[in-house]
Amino acid sequence: MRIIVCESAEEVALRAAIESIEYLGEALSTQSSGKSENPEASCVLGLATGSTPLGLYREWIERYRAEEISFRNVTSFNLDEYCGIPPSDPQSYHSFMHENLFRHIDIDPAKAHIPVTDCDDLSQSGERYEAMIEEAGGIDLQILGIGSDGHIGFNEPGSSFSSPTRVKTLTKRTREDNARFFPSVDHVPRTALTMGLGTIMSARAILLLATGKGKAKAIRDTVEGPITAMVPASILQFHPYATVILDAAAASELALIDYYVDAERNRQS
Ligand code: PGA
Repeated sequence: MRIIVCESAEEVALRAAIESIEYLGEALSTQSSGKSENPEASCVLGLATGSTPLGLYREWIERYRAEEISFRNVTSFNLDEYCGIPPSDPQSYHSFMHENLFRHIDIDPAKAHIPVTDCDDLSQSGERYEAMIEEAGGIDLQILGIGSDGHIGFNEPGSSFSSPTRVKTLTKRTREDNARFFPSVDHVPRTALTMGLGTIMSARAILLLATGKGKAKAIRDTVEGPITAMVPASILQFHPYATVILDAAAASELALIDYYVDAERNRQS
């Protein structure tokens, strides 16, 4: 795992933008970006909701407006969607993505995918989502946040490491963490359709972002703890291209923090 420690949440967003744009290369290039434009280049992006990726989305939007990048050759797949609320609900992840990213950029709405939960057969919907990811050629770069319980997507503690997209029941802690977006915790849906840990691990590269003291323990357990289903994100230790970008507060419980800072400095020089 590559660990990048930043001073602030703003710097996390900036570094995540730089890393993602560099990694996706000519798939995002525009005529005015100064990079060579290859009309054949395209990429598949895995996207996340929650407060953490908002800074990164703002950076992307700014660069899109400055005509430095374009999303016209991007296909995207979001990690998850709540069950039991329609896509038009302001609290749905369909609404979240539209409001915070899609409506501001030039991604083709037909290529911006979010798990479908307003249907009769959720397990079939999960299978279809897996098939669509495969048909698109697999995910090139998956953006992740992390729950205070170590979840990624809505893969709560105990999730199978090889799980595909399926329905998961949210823990009480996750529902309490997400209650800030709803009138009360009782309004937070109890289940969600989420990419599995197997789906996430199939992405070619991963960018996990975390900010704030509330994530410090989950980050310590993910990066330095044993690999265990009790901390779903710890499976990322097995991923060959996982980068974790943290602010100082989220990194504050890491035992080897000085080493990570030093390693990153050596990389830059
Ligand atoms: P947050 O959520 O970014 O709102 O903290 C992260 C998550 O639950 O995965």
